[in-house]
Amino acid sequence: MENFEFHNPTKIIFGKKTEEKIGEILKNDGIKKVLFVYGKESIKKTGLFDKVINLLNQNGIEYILHGGVKSNPVLSHTREGIQKAKENNVDAVLAVGGGSVIDEAKAIAVGAKTDKDIWIYFERGEEIKSALPVYDILTLAATGTEMNGYAVITNEETKEKLSISSIYIYPKVSILNPELTYTVPKEYVAYSAVDITAHSVEWYFTCKVCPNIQNRLVESIVKTIKETTDIILKEPTNYNARAEFMWASTLALNGITRTGVGGGYFPNHMIAHSIGALYDLPHGACLSIVIPAWTKWYLENNKPQFKRFAKEIFNLDDYTKLPQAIKEWFSSIGAPVSLSEVGIKDIDAIADNVMITAKLWNLDKIYTKEVIKEILNLAR
Ligand code: NZQ
Ligand code: ZN
Repeated sequence: MENFEFHNPTKIIFGKKTEEKIGEILKNDGIKKVLFVYGKESIKKTGLFDKVINLLNQNGIEYILHGGVKSNPVLSHTREGIQKAKENNVDAVLAVGGGSVIDEAKAIAVGAKTDKDIWIYFERGEEIKSALPVYDILTLAATGTEMNGYAVITNEETKEKLSISSIYIYPKVSILNPELTYTVPKEYVAYSAVDITAHSVEWYFTCKVCPNIQNRLVESIVKTIKETTDIILKEPTNYNARAEFMWASTLALNGITRTGVGGGYFPNHMIAHSIGALYDLPHGACLSIVIPAWTKWYLENNKPQFKRFAKEIFNLDDYTKLPQAIKEWFSSIGAPVSLSEVGIKDIDAIADNVMITAKLWNLDKIYTKEVIKEILNLAR
């Protein structure tokens, strides 16, 4: 096991009706005015928007609205949010929604505390030195953003989908009520299952030092996702299935599975982000196309890990059958597994785009444009 430091400052409040605490939490933290960030329509349809407004009013907390965050959040809307946060001198950002809403809220929280343009931080040209506190009520379990220091934004002009990473953007408090995810549509349940699985296996498949405790944690998360996805697709309001799915999602990318692991990186996300940047496809759908192809391409590079995953998750004695088993699982829950299925042909354009992230992540020596094309060809 490698040496490690682990520091996760986010407080999680998990369970039924927990969203009712938001006003009190903000008030107790001395917050007087928030930028209230939300998505297109889901929280208005479910009544959560009105509920939060009432709770803010009851606790004397002023709010400035910043709605309309799109799935795969974009830079222009983030910049508008930063301007509102600055003009209105808010003390905190309150995000109510899925990963996109929370990610945009995090970027706004950084932008509100600097005179520099926010995109510089995504290009890794500047280090993040501070941010407004972020509070959130999560309505879709997938990304793990509710308990990590990452945010992903798309620059819609340059077609770059890049991330920031900082201790300052871990949410201060994240409220997780599984009941709020009952309305997540079936296709997003599938994309989310893929995303959570991806967060679990990226390090697991690429690690050089792979402690058993971490292997077992990852396998537990993936088994839980496989089981609960099947239940949720049949019974969207099964509380226990939604609850285990939601907590598995948080654990998959809150840093815990990475502790003590040596080596390891995020190749599937690197490629998926470029497909998302160019075609605005849901993040999990980009991953379900990439993962079976990448697994096939990488299979002989970390045999012990693939062997145990094949056995533990799919009860396969022959690890070479793993890429196909993953593909069939993703397909069975309703996620796309090839580029042709979503009408994408231009592999060259994706490969060019991937090289932007490959350079930023120092992976361009292994993942040359030719290698990326090879992987994408397996995803045709
Ligand atoms: O906009 P609204 O109307 O709210 O609708 C959303 C959106 O259309 C809807 N939705 C959310 N909660 C719902 C609901 N519909 C019904 N009932 C509910 N309770 O679902 C759609 C998708 O939402 P979105 O937030 O885009 O999904 P997700 O949580 O998967 O977030 C995806 C974004 O997160 C990034 C992805 O790249 C993508 O941009 N990621 C962030 C990470 C992080 N910060 O750590 C890591 C991930 O790897 C990922 O890259
Ligand atoms: Zn992801």
